[in-house]
Order: sequence, then C-alpha cells, then structure tokens
Amino acid sequence: METAKILSRLESDLKNVQNEHDLMMLKSKYLGKKSEVAIGLAGLGKLDKAERAKQGKALNQLKNQVERIITGAATELRQKAEFEPIDISRPGIALHKTAKVGHLHPASLVLQETYQIFTELGFAIVDSPEIETDWFNFEALNMPESHPAREMQDTFYIKGTDQKLLPRTHTSGMQVRFMGENEPPFKIIVPGKVFRSENEDATHSWSFNQIEGLVVGEGVSMADLKGTLLQIVKRQLGAETEIRFRASFFPYTEPSVEVDARYQGKWLELGGAGMVHPDVLKSGGIDPNKYTGFAFGWGVERIAAIKYGIADLRQLWRPKLDYLEQF
Ligand code: FA5
Repeated sequence: METAKILSRLESDLKNVQNEHDLMMLKSKYLGKKSEVAIGLAGLGKLDKAERAKQGKALNQLKNQVERIITGAATELRQKAEFEPIDISRPGIALHKTAKVGHLHPASLVLQETYQIFTELGFAIVDSPEIETDWFNFEALNMPESHPAREMQDTFYIKGTDQKLLPRTHTSGMQVRFMGENEPPFKIIVPGKVFRSENEDATHSWSFNQIEGLVVGEGVSMADLKGTLLQIVKRQLGAETEIRFRASFFPYTEPSVEVDARYQGKWLELGGAGMVHPDVLKSGGIDPNKYTGFAFGWGVERIAAIKYGIADLRQLWRPKLDYLEQF
C-alpha cells in the first residue's frame, strides 16, 4: 500500500471541496467500505503474523492521518462560513428600487376610516361568521323559505349539511345572533364580506363588503337613526354632505328606508335602513314592548367608489396593480 500516494491524492481532492457535503463524499471515498484503507484492514486476517502486525500498524496510521486531515478541513470550512468577510464600504441596497412597497386597498381604507368614526360614537365592532345558517340569514329576519325577498339575495348554498349553511348574503344575519347573546342597550357595527349570485355590472359584484349597524335600547327612534347616519356620512364624505330617506321595504325593518347621500351635487344610494321589526327583536329574545332599535347596512365598495371616483367597482378586485396604485 502506498501511503504517500494516497495522502497526496487526498490533498489534491481536497482542493475541489466547496462545502460540507463534498467533504462527506471525500471521507467516504478515503475511509468508507470500499476505500483502500477499509479493504486493507479487512484483508489483514489472511496475512501471516509478522506481516499482519506491520500492515496493521501502517493502515491504522494512515487511517488516523486521513481522519485528522478531514477534521481539519471541516473546521476550516465552518470558520470560512461563519466569518465571511463583509465589505462595510459597499453601498447599501436601494429597497425601493428592488422591492415594491404596497399600500392599503381602497376598501380597506374605507373600512379603517369607518371603524374610527363608529368607535368614536361609542359603537363596538363585532365579528360574525362568513358561513351562516339559513335561520339567521333569512328565517329569523322574517324571510321564510318561499319569501320573494330571498330572490334579491340569492346565493351559493353548501350541500350536505343539516343546518342549511350558506355564505352570508348580507351582514344582517348577525342581528339576531347578537341579540340572542347580549342584553340591550347596545350599539354595534358588523363589517364583513358577503356573497351573492349576482349578475355583475359596474355597481354590482358577486362578493363585496358590508357594514351593518344595530342599535337597541329603550326609546330608540327613527330620529336617532337619521341623526346617527348624518353624523357618519358627514365625517366620511365631508361636512357639506346631506342625506335623504326614501321609503323602502325590508322584511326585518318597519318602517324601512333607502338612504341616499348628496355628494358633489348628485344623490347616491348608500344602503338600506329602518327600525328593527318587533318580530326580529322577539327572535333575538328581546321584548319589543320595552325596547326598540334601528339597523342599517351599506356597501363598503360603493363608499370607496364615491370617495375615489371609481366608475366600475369590479375594477377594485382585479389584480391590476397599476390601477390600484392610484389610490
Ligand atoms: C341589504 O343587504 C340589507 N341587509 C341592508 C339593511 C340592513 C336594511 C339593515 C335594513 C336594515 P341591499 O341588498 O340593498 O340591502 O344592500 C345594501 C347595500 O350593499 C347597497 O345599498 C349597496 O351599497 C351594497 N350592495 C348591494 N349589492 C351590491 C353588489 N352586488 N355589489 C356591491 N355592493 C352592493
């Protein structure tokens, strides 16, 4: 066995080692099962005693040497990785040129502003499930199975559940849920995404955000509803904004109104509202002889469209950065 040759081959192989994996491969080449060292050690038994002692000593010395060299190389590799020199005189990386910094979506901007205004007026912000039961979304709001008002909010039903689940069609489903779990008086808003099987156009998308408002207490009146909405609209669209009520119909409010805001000389529809129907209060376990309440619900994207002059609100949910970057 030519120890010197093996060691010089190892030295020259070491020059090509880049990382710890290369080094492992080298270790296996020189000390693994098929290495000259291992084969030599395995064959010792066949030699006579004197030769066995001589060869055994030489092989073990070689083995130790190879191990030392490889351990030394491993330490060197690790130190190199840990102490990779940093050139502190190099110019920094201009992040704004390499990574794009984003900003809030117009709907999020409107939502944030809405939370601010309502919390200042003492409203609590309440979360509600996106997947709702038919009971809370429709039945508890005076919309039994064959009620025509359901048709305006047709949606996608979830098959194979006993509870008749659906992606909520409006945030009004939270009204009876909340009443069932809380004692009046309370003032809440419920923001959230809603889903409808909608024939899309510039002012209708199949999924959009709504803000529901619900106030229940003793002596709550239609004047409170109008005063509250006026305050909010003035804060959100400007102090000169006016509102008007148009008679309308929702099965869960009586009387019901559509709320319009006069903005930059035009009347624009904001959403629906009204006094909570006594049957709805009853569904929520609240005595309609003691308590009254008002509710309203409007579209977040419609407000964004008004505020930012967006002609087609479907644009808001298209992945077009150059469009969204304008806001
Ligand atoms: C409702 O959803 C009622 N739940 C509102 C309500 C709440 C009435 C509480 C009474 C008491 P409507 O379907 O009109 O009503 O929707 C309310 C608002 O959501 C609309 O005025 C509009 O601003 C917005 N909206 C409705 N459909 C769409 C749509 N497809 N895309 C975008 N915004 C919409």
